[in-house]
Amino acid sequence: MGMAYFPVFIFLFMVCLCQSDDRLTPAKPLLPGDVLISEGGVFAIGFFSLKNSTSSSYVGIWYNNIPERTYVWIANRDNPITANMPGKLVFTNSSDLVLLDSTGHTIWTTTNNFTAGGGETAAVLLDSGNLVIQSLNGTDIWESFHYPTDTIVPNVRFSLSSVDVTKRLVAWKGPNDPSSSNFSMGGDTSSDLQIVIWNGTRPYWRRAAWGGEAVFGKFQRNSNFVISQTIVDTGDGYHFTVTVPVGSPSVRLTLDYTGMLNFQRWNSSTSSWTVFEKFPSPTCDRYAFCGPFGYCDSTEYVPTCKCLDGYEPNGLNFSQGCQRKEELKCGNGESFLTLPTMKTPDKFLYIKNRTFDQCTAECSHNCSCTAYAYANLKNVNTTLDQTRCLVWMGELVDVEKFDSTFGENLYLRVTRSPVSKKSTVLKIIVPVMATFLLLFTCIWLVCKSRGETSKQESSEESTVLEPFQRTWERKSRISIG
Ligand SMILES: *[C@@H]1O[C@H](CO)[C@@H](O)[C@H](O)[C@H]1NC(C)=O
Ligand SMILES: *[C@@H]1O[C@H](CO)[C@@H](O)[C@H](O)[C@H]1NC(C)=O
Ligand SMILES: *[C@@H]1O[C@H](CO)[C@@H](O)[C@H](O)[C@H]1NC(C)=O
Ligand SMILES: *[C@@H]1O[C@H](CO)[C@@H](O)[C@H](O)[C@H]1NC(C)=O
Ligand SMILES: *[C@@H]1O[C@H](CO)[C@@H](O)[C@H](O)[C@H]1NC(C)=O
Ligand SMILES: *[C@@H]1O[C@H](CO)[C@@H](O)[C@H](O)[C@H]1NC(C)=O
Ligand SMILES: *[C@@H]1O[C@H](CO)[C@@H](O)[C@H](O)[C@H]1NC(C)=O
Ligand SMILES: *[C@@H]1O[C@H](CO)[C@@H](O)[C@H](O)[C@H]1NC(C)=O
Ligand SMILES: *[C@@H]1O[C@H](CO)[C@@H](O)[C@H](O)[C@H]1NC(C)=O
Ligand SMILES: *[C@@H]1O[C@H](CO)[C@@H](O)[C@H](O)[C@H]1NC(C)=O
Ligand SMILES: *[C@@H]1O[C@H](CO)[C@@H](O)[C@H](O)[C@H]1NC(C)=O
Repeated sequence: MGMAYFPVFIFLFMVCLCQSDDRLTPAKPLLPGDVLISEGGVFAIGFFSLKNSTSSSYVGIWYNNIPERTYVWIANRDNPITANMPGKLVFTNSSDLVLLDSTGHTIWTTTNNFTAGGGETAAVLLDSGNLVIQSLNGTDIWESFHYPTDTIVPNVRFSLSSVDVTKRLVAWKGPNDPSSSNFSMGGDTSSDLQIVIWNGTRPYWRRAAWGGEAVFGKFQRNSNFVISQTIVDTGDGYHFTVTVPVGSPSVRLTLDYTGMLNFQRWNSSTSSWTVFEKFPSPTCDRYAFCGPFGYCDSTEYVPTCKCLDGYEPNGLNFSQGCQRKEELKCGNGESFLTLPTMKTPDKFLYIKNRTFDQCTAECSHNCSCTAYAYANLKNVNTTLDQTRCLVWMGELVDVEKFDSTFGENLYLRVTRSPVSKKSTVLKIIVPVMATFLLLFTCIWLVCKSRGETSKQESSEESTVLEPFQRTWERKSRISIG
C-alpha cells in the first residue's frame, strides 16, 4: 500500500480504516483491540474478555449491531490466552487462521495447509456471521459455520449425521465461562432422524424423529415474525437449518449453560433477547422421565406420567416405568392400537423403502416388536428414499402425548379384549350368559323401580380410542418440540 510514504497520522488513519475491514490477509493480522466488521455491519470478530475473568482472552464473533454483547462463535473457548500475553490472529500463506500468544505459541489453528500460489486467499467475516476462508475463485476452504460453539444462527447447515462430536453444539460452563460444559446437542449417534441433548453421555432431551409435516412448519407469532426450520438431505445425511426472512430481527438457537436449548429473538423495544421457545419444557418432557412403557401426557392441565395401554405401573412411582399387564402370546389375537399425536419413542429400528402395509408387516411378523410408526418424508428436500418405517423391538422409552396436532400416530401392539383370547366355548357362553344376566337385571330393575326414569347404560368401551378432544391450539409451540 506504500504506507511508508505517509506521515504517521495518516498511517494511524489507515489502521482505523483497516479495522473496519471485513477480512484478514497474510499481510494484515488481527491484534487485540482490532475489530473486523462484516460488510453490512451485522457481525464483528475480535479479541474479548468476559466479566470476572479479565485475565482470560478469547477470539470470537459477536453481533455488531446489538448492544448486549452476545457471542455466536469462539475460536479458543477451551484454551484462553492469558491477558498479559496479548497475541494475534494471523492468516497464513497456507490459508490457515492461527491464533498465537505473545510468545509465538499456537493457541488455536485451522488445518487447511492450502497454498493457492501467492497468498491470494483471505479470511472474510460475512453478514451471516460466518467466518470463511476463501480461495481466489470464491470457493470456501473453511467456514466457522461447520464448527459451531453453542449457537446456531440462521443459515447454518447443521449436520445431524455427524458422528464427529466436535461438530455438536456444546454449552458454556457458566454465564461468564465459555469453556465446554457437559451439555451438548447434535444428531443422535445411531440415527440422523433426531436431535438429542446430552448431559455428558446421557440423553437429557430428545426431539422426536422427523415425521411428516410437523418438522417443516413455519413458526409465526405475527406478520413480522416468521422463522422456518428445514431438513435437507442431499445425499450426505440430514441437515437442520433455521431461516428467517430478510430484514427480520436477529434470531439464534443456543444451548445454554443450564442445558436448555433456547430459541431467542432480539427485542429492540426492550433491548434484550426474548426467549420464545425452550427445551426441555419444565414438565415430564425430559428424556425417559416416565420410564420404559410410560409416557408423559401433555394433554393434561398438569402434564403427568401414565402407562401405555396394556401396561401398569412397575412401582409406586414412574421411576421404573410400566410393565405389561398380560404377556403377549405371539401371533395369537394381537392387534395394533392407534395412539395419535404421540412423540415417537427412542431406540427404534429404521427400516428403509417400505410402504405402510409393509411396515405394519415388519412389526406384526416379529414377536419382539412392540410398536411401529410410519411417515412419508415428502417434505424433506431429498432425492433419496422418502419412506420412514420405524419399528421398536422391546422397550418403548421417552414417549409423550402432545396436546396439539404435533406428533404422529404410534401403532402399539396390544392383546385384543380378553374374551377374544378364550376358547370358542367361552366365546359363545360368555355372551349368552351376559345377555341372560342383562335381561334378568332389566326385568328386576323394571319391577323394582316401576315408574322411575330409566337408568342410563354404562359403556364398557375402552376410552383409548376416543377422539382427541382436549386439543387446544398452541401455535407458539415450534415444531422442534
Ligand atoms: C462477578 O464477581 C462478583 C464479585 O467477585 C460477583 O459478586 C458477581 O456475582 C460475579 N458475576 C458473575 C456473573 O459471575
Ligand atoms: C503442508 O503441506 C506441505 C506439502 O503440501 C507439507 O510439506 C507440510 O508439511 C504441510 N504442513 C503442515 C503443517 O501440515
Ligand atoms: C507470504 O507470501 C508472501 C509473498 O507471496 C511473502 O512475501 C511472505 O513472506 C510470505 N509470508 C510468510 C509468513 O511466509
Ligand atoms: C476453486 O479452487 C479450488 C482450489 O484450487 C478448487 O478445488 C475448486 O475446484 C475451484 N472451484 C472452481 C469453481 O473453479
Ligand atoms: C461433567 O462430566 C464429568 C465426567 O463425567 C464429571 O466428572 C463432572 O462432574 C461433570 N460436571 C458436571 C458439572 O456435571
Ligand atoms: C447432569 O449430570 C450430572 C451428573 O453427571 C448431574 O449431577 C446433573 O444434575 C445433571 N444435570 C441435569 C440438568 O440433569
Ligand atoms: C418485546 O418485549 C416486550 C416486553 O417483554 C413484549 O411485550 C413484546 O411483545 C416483545 N416484542 C417482541 C417483538 O417480541
Ligand atoms: C420412586 O420409587 C423408587 C423405588 O421404587 C424410590 O427409590 C424413589 O425414591 C421414588 N421416587 C420418588 C420421587 O418418589
Ligand atoms: C424398494 O423396494 C422395491 C420393492 O419393494 C424395489 O423394487 C426397489 O428397488 C427398492 N428401492 C430401493 C432404493 O431400495
Ligand atoms: C425380530 O427382530 C429381532 C431384532 O431385530 C431379530 O433379532 C429377530 O431375528 C427377528 N425375528 C424374526 C422372526 O424376524
Ligand atoms: C432442495 O435442495 C437443493 C440443494 O440444496 C436446492 O437447490 C433446492 O432449491 C431445494 N428445493 C427445495 C424445494 O427446497
